[in-house]
Amino acid sequence: MLSREDNELLVRVGPGTPMGNMFRRFWLPVALASEVGGPDSEPVKVEALGESFVLFRNTDGELGLLDAFCTHRRAHLFWGRNEQNGLRCVYHGWKFDKNGECVDVPNCPEGERIKKSVGTRAFPVMERGGMIWAYFGPKELQPKPPATEIFDAPDSHRFIRKMVIKGNWLQHMEGDVDSSHISFLHSGLTGALPGSAINPAAFEDKAPRWIIKQMDYGVRLAAQRNSGPDHYSWRINQWLFPFATLIASPQNWPFTANIRLPVDDETTIQFRVWTNPDQPLTEEQLKIANAGVIFPEMIPGTFTPKANKSNNYLIDREDQKLRTYTGIKAIPSQDLAVIQDQGYGHIADRSLEKLTSSDLAIIQIRKRLLDNVKALMAGQEPPEPKNMEAYRVRPIDFVLPRDVDLDDGERAVLQKRAAE
Ligand code: FES
Ligand SMILES: [Fe+2]
Repeated sequence: MLSREDNELLVRVGPGTPMGNMFRRFWLPVALASEVGGPDSEPVKVEALGESFVLFRNTDGELGLLDAFCTHRRAHLFWGRNEQNGLRCVYHGWKFDKNGECVDVPNCPEGERIKKSVGTRAFPVMERGGMIWAYFGPKELQPKPPATEIFDAPDSHRFIRKMVIKGNWLQHMEGDVDSSHISFLHSGLTGALPGSAINPAAFEDKAPRWIIKQMDYGVRLAAQRNSGPDHYSWRINQWLFPFATLIASPQNWPFTANIRLPVDDETTIQFRVWTNPDQPLTEEQLKIANAGVIFPEMIPGTFTPKANKSNNYLIDREDQKLRTYTGIKAIPSQDLAVIQDQGYGHIADRSLEKLTSSDLAIIQIRKRLLDNVKALMAGQEPPEPKNMEAYRVRPIDFVLPRDVDLDDGERAVLQKRAAE
């Protein structure tokens, strides 16, 4: 249980809020790379942390990310003309380059004289891992990008989907570190959901035990389940401070990264990335990715899943009676159905929860976030942005004899897999 005050600290991300300031210390993914075309292509609307921006690629092929609203009379620059290394507002013709400098004020006689003083805000932006990343924080604190290897893998090693969903960012992210839910929400009535790539141990033992460690990059979350009479199945997921989770798959399967961008307090973008850092995805894996279970089907031309709140996630009550736990087809849609409305207005009130030992991971993550936010409010910068190299971690799933220590066993498994 969390106090209402602490809950508010965690969920609000707009300009000037403590958690908003925390997010503004990290590189954040704001769009898919595929949303931006070549030089002088159409501008892209970006919304993040309760603010609006416009993203474009200029004539020289460089990316620019500007405040969405023209400094003259606040027209949205998305309507702008992307021409000759700048974005020209269509209301009265003012033009801004990728650095935010105003280079033309053609609608008044004093334009030439004032243009230098009417520039707009521009933000560092880069392309990485199939996404466009931006940094919205103080210039002198700009961190290196996280060393997370999946962002360096070539496109062939990755399947990525962007979903715009309702619900506060934190409750969606908490779903990722809630290991016990997979045995229920994501199950078939007689075991694993077909096509879900979830370890069968999750259905043999539905009450996992946790070993949780605070790490430089975030929190390491090991869930232990019985696997037959003599073994444990271990699933080690990684939570990357402050907003991403790496989720293990069985060996040789791509693992999942869920990265969540708070659009505002009640809306979230989920980048769901399925990656095998070591090799390209196989044809079979791509077929599974497109089968509508691991990734939901989308309404063409949008970032909205076909199964959504307006149609009750296309729940099939007969399927729920006879075959699956929820009657909802895709794993992310199952998550969305329960998470999006954990509280009125899409924000969960954590002061009303009754937590148990199954929620230890969630408790640890909230603690890390709160400790850092409170420190930042007292003027102490978070340590994570200074150590992006620590983010070079993977999630992993393996089985060990019950008497083997987790860390020793993990080391042995990693060595064995590296030699294969
Ligand atoms: S509002 Fe953009 S030029 Fe006037
Ligand atoms: Fe889930």
